[in-house]
Amino acid sequence: IKKIGVLTSGGDAPGMNAAIRGVVRAGLAEGLELFGIYDGYLGLYEDRMLSLDRYSVSDVINRGGTFLGSARFPEFKEESVRQIAIENMRKRGLDALVVIGGDGSYMGAKRLTEMGFPCIGLPGTIDNDVAGTDYTIGYQTALETVVEAIDRLRDTSSSHQRISIVEVMGRHCGDLTLSAAIAGGCEYVVLPEIPYTREELVAEIRAGLKKGKKHAIVAITELLCDCAELAKYIEKETGRETRATVLGHIQRGGAPCAFDRILASRMGAYAVDLLLQGFGGRCVGVQNDRMVHHDIIDAIENMRRPFRGDLMATAKRLY
Ligand code: F6P
Repeated sequence: IKKIGVLTSGGDAPGMNAAIRGVVRAGLAEGLELFGIYDGYLGLYEDRMLSLDRYSVSDVINRGGTFLGSARFPEFKEESVRQIAIENMRKRGLDALVVIGGDGSYMGAKRLTEMGFPCIGLPGTIDNDVAGTDYTIGYQTALETVVEAIDRLRDTSSSHQRISIVEVMGRHCGDLTLSAAIAGGCEYVVLPEIPYTREELVAEIRAGLKKGKKHAIVAITELLCDCAELAKYIEKETGRETRATVLGHIQRGGAPCAFDRILASRMGAYAVDLLLQGFGGRCVGVQNDRMVHHDIIDAIENMRRPFRGDLMATAKRLY
């Protein structure tokens, strides 16, 4: 291995820059050459790359987003598109690629590896929905952002004795919602992992009001319902004013917290170690605070993230 490419793909996440920096600085220290690819797999296909030196990653460890840019590029599913991407990398003498992104991005890395081009995946997404790792890069920062937003909602919700619904990102994973709900002291949590009905939710809210609760915050993962509609329904059923807040892409931005910077730096350096040891088709994780790697195909197809039922039980006990 002499030349490594690095790209960020899918939804951006705070800490992606720190991960790129980790790959670049660790790679340079081992005498490798590094290339950055703009805008994920799209830039790979369009042959938009630049050589990176240590100064290319100066002053980025503290910056949110990704300075390489990111994109969703569904066309990468086509073999002919991937073939062009591989030709572009070979033309520049690259022999391996580090992909920083979520499990959608892992799929591209898996397919490139199957086509003979070794890739290492680093989990970069606020959703914390990647198997084989306790945490993804960006999750802890997004958690802080969501908790800060919930704290603000609590002020106004309590002043007006209202019910507030807060919609949290996470796609099909409730980790961000659940942890934010515990840290933000939310009264009710609705997650994709646990089927719920609006009727059950209203019954719980009514029980809370009966106990003397003056206001309530409901944390709910995105894609489960239309929160504005849900707010109207709760208001009608409980007689309490209800407001919905969709946090949206605010959750993806901002400077990475220290945890994410450290995680990203460790993972970036570890990816280089794996490539130097001759590994390809692996994805990096942190488990019990140790760097680990798994078969990328296994991570996508066979491994499941365990649902944190223990955390849900804690949240419910503290309602
Ligand atoms: O995967 C990260 C994420 O922010 C999800 O939480 C969300 O569902 C999705 O990306 C939004 O994607 P986009 O930025 O393409 O609208």
